Amino acid sequence: MFRARTLAAEAAGAGDETGWFERLYSEAEAGSAVVPWADGEVNPHLVEWAAGKDGMGKRALVVGCGLGYDAQYLAGLSYAVTGFDVAPTAIERTIRENPGTTVEYLAADLLDLPAAWAGAFDLVVEIYTVQPLYGPVRERALAALHGPVAPGGTLLVIARATNDENPERDPAQMPWPLTRRELDLAGGPLRTVRVEQFMDSGTQPRLRWRAEFRRD
Ligand SMILES: C[S@@+](CC[C@H](N)C(=O)[O-])C[C@H]1O[C@@H](n2cnc3c(N)ncnc32)[C@H](O)[C@@H]1O
Repeated sequence: MFRARTLAAEAAGAGDETGWFERLYSEAEAGSAVVPWADGEVNPHLVEWAAGKDGMGKRALVVGCGLGYDAQYLAGLSYAVTGFDVAPTAIERTIRENPGTTVEYLAADLLDLPAAWAGAFDLVVEIYTVQPLYGPVRERALAALHGPVAPGGTLLVIARATNDENPERDPAQMPWPLTRRELDLAGGPLRTVRVEQFMDSGTQPRLRWRAEFRRD
């Protein structure tokens, strides 16, 4: 986490709050940094949520897909998956590490989504993309999440949680957990189907949200 935190802290309030991701992935390619979330694991809270689901004939969009673990998992459930990330180096590495993948990976910015994606996906999955964003881009990112959800479609948000509605955000302590108000901002006009809050099991237990919203 060390290098990622340093880059995030330098970026916080400096006017380019998403540029540090590309820098981190590039440094990792050069062998001089570690991407702390590059653990090779599909998110267990996504796996639990998706149990028994069949994505045949459905389109899924994975926001901030990083190295593609969750996108690959959804493709395995037969969804037609698009995964995007603001960092081109993450996308290049993901394509390289998944030869023959059916997932369409591309570099794109949640803050400036392609117009063609509006209302186009049966499932939009956001996992840990907003929590490392600091400052005004954070609200813009949250507000952009529901746009790609098709009528009848679902937005799934999995994130670190806080019950403090006005948390102090130390720039040196990325990631910054989401408040309930921020979660509601993500859902926007969608109907809230379920909001769960729980502690992760694991060596470093964390308070999490898993929230599901639907466009009726
Ligand atoms: C903490 S990582 C999580 C990656 C992945 N979702 C996971 O759970 O393993 C956050 C990811 O979001 C990407 N990201 C940050 N801001 C973004 C934006 N505005 N648009 C698209 N991707 C973004 C970063 O490049 C990074 O890959």
